[in-house]
Amino acid sequence: MAEVSTHSKILILDFGSQYTQVIARRIRECQVYSEIVRFDTQATEIGAVKPNGIILSGGPASVYDKGAPQIDPGIFSLGIPVLGICYGVMLMAHHLGGQVVFTGRREYGAGMLHIKNGSELFDGLGKQLDVWNSHGDEVTVLPKDFHVVGTTDGCDFAAVEDPQRKLYGLQFHPEVAHTPRGREILQNFVYHICQCAMDWTMAGFIEEACARVRKQVGDQKVVLGLSGGVDSSVTAALLHKAIGDQLTCIFVNNGLLRAREEEVVQRVFGENFHVRLKYVDASGRFLSKLRGLTDPEQKRKVIGNEFIKVFEDAVIELAAESNPQSASRNSQFKFLAQGTLYPDVIESVSIGGNPAQVIKSHHNVGGLPEKMHFELVEPVRQLFKDEVRQAGLQLGLPKDIVYRQPFPGPGLAVRILGEVTPERLSILREADTIVQSEMEAANWYYKVWQSFAVLLPVQSVGVMGDQRTYENTVVLRIVESQDGMTADWVRLPYELLARISSRISNEVKGVNRVCYDISSKPPSTIEWE
Ligand code: XMP
Repeated sequence: MAEVSTHSKILILDFGSQYTQVIARRIRECQVYSEIVRFDTQATEIGAVKPNGIILSGGPASVYDKGAPQIDPGIFSLGIPVLGICYGVMLMAHHLGGQVVFTGRREYGAGMLHIKNGSELFDGLGKQLDVWNSHGDEVTVLPKDFHVVGTTDGCDFAAVEDPQRKLYGLQFHPEVAHTPRGREILQNFVYHICQCAMDWTMAGFIEEACARVRKQVGDQKVVLGLSGGVDSSVTAALLHKAIGDQLTCIFVNNGLLRAREEEVVQRVFGENFHVRLKYVDASGRFLSKLRGLTDPEQKRKVIGNEFIKVFEDAVIELAAESNPQSASRNSQFKFLAQGTLYPDVIESVSIGGNPAQVIKSHHNVGGLPEKMHFELVEPVRQLFKDEVRQAGLQLGLPKDIVYRQPFPGPGLAVRILGEVTPERLSILREADTIVQSEMEAANWYYKVWQSFAVLLPVQSVGVMGDQRTYENTVVLRIVESQDGMTADWVRLPYELLARISSRISNEVKGVNRVCYDISSKPPSTIEWE
């Protein structure tokens, strides 16, 4: 848990709901800091950080299941407001002398909440609300001093409370989009019941993060692997603000970048921000290691290992440049900065095999801290992705960096099926540039999660003028997604697809066929390798 701070703060106990992170983000949208902690965090620990309020997430378990996640009931007598959602309200009833039964009928989907008895939770929301339900257990007897403040057709205890003890329970999910006025319910809880101030602002965060970094690193030097992606770019901008020239960024050109990527990064960070930037052109090293390789996993492994070696060499070179006399040359860079985000650090619980909790992360610089004895600096580890973008804008990064689409660490190598060669890289780069420019021109680039081209190791017959051709196939992969965990292909207008296709076949030498990938994830993945 974060240290006690002067901020208002809501703690969210995670019982394995697929919506726990959504709750956290909704609270932060109220400009109130929220943090997710494990369901079994003890009351004494929670009391010590003095949150303004506590939310118990839903979860897939039934309170009577063997091994069902249990709460420390001491939490209910801390005097801190508690809002139990779905499984959270069952726990409340179960531990405070009420009754929960498994009725066998599941209330799932949209419902209508009838509001009664004037709860502060529903201030300003009228008499009826559309709500979203998803529960099997049901509270049948309320704990002493609780009363009903809302019912649905399927449930007499859809919203309950004991305002004296500041305990509130909702059977439905206020955090999901299907409860359209759920935000207002959460706002009522946060502002009126928990008395939170709106003090989680990006400007405030940046100031605090800078102060924390200065305290952590003192007058030592920090090195950062800058990929040009949003996370490392924002980390670079923030650290530059905090410690100026104590930061050196290393940008590795692995030869697998999109067209002009190295130019953009050098322009933005070197020329505009005046960040100390070491540009390492290691394309030759990577391409020679990749020669002859066709297996996707092997390609990824080779690229990952080579990155670590190149990075190590670059740090040693940097240290030597700034102090040629030093015996232990890389000892000068004590700190390694990383753009780790909040979803990567949440200690998620997986309950009942709930797959939404298994967060996939790609650590492109994995292995570096252990190997080189770096201490980590992770200034944006409290932020969600959308918050990192806001921070980037406030720090003056251009929109095309802040809102750029994700790009995998192994770069175009995972979009060239089969062997990666300079010729095939050049074909893919040209096709990719056309995809990006047409997506931007049609105002689609920022609406989708990713849009890129893939080069297949498949040739087919075509005809150009009077000539028979036997050339390569390019696939367009254009997907929408919230977080990359699941995705769907985008129903792009035919005219746009037609323009991209005809430009690629006309302008990219070596391509005579363009296909559109209409697979979702799962069962496919977004990248082809
Ligand atoms: P997949 O292909 O697994 O990709 O559906 C999900 C998301 O992750 C990105 N991706 C990566 N990002 N290093 C990264 O930083 C990687 O090795 C990597 N592999 C995939 C992918 O672009 C998509 O957004």
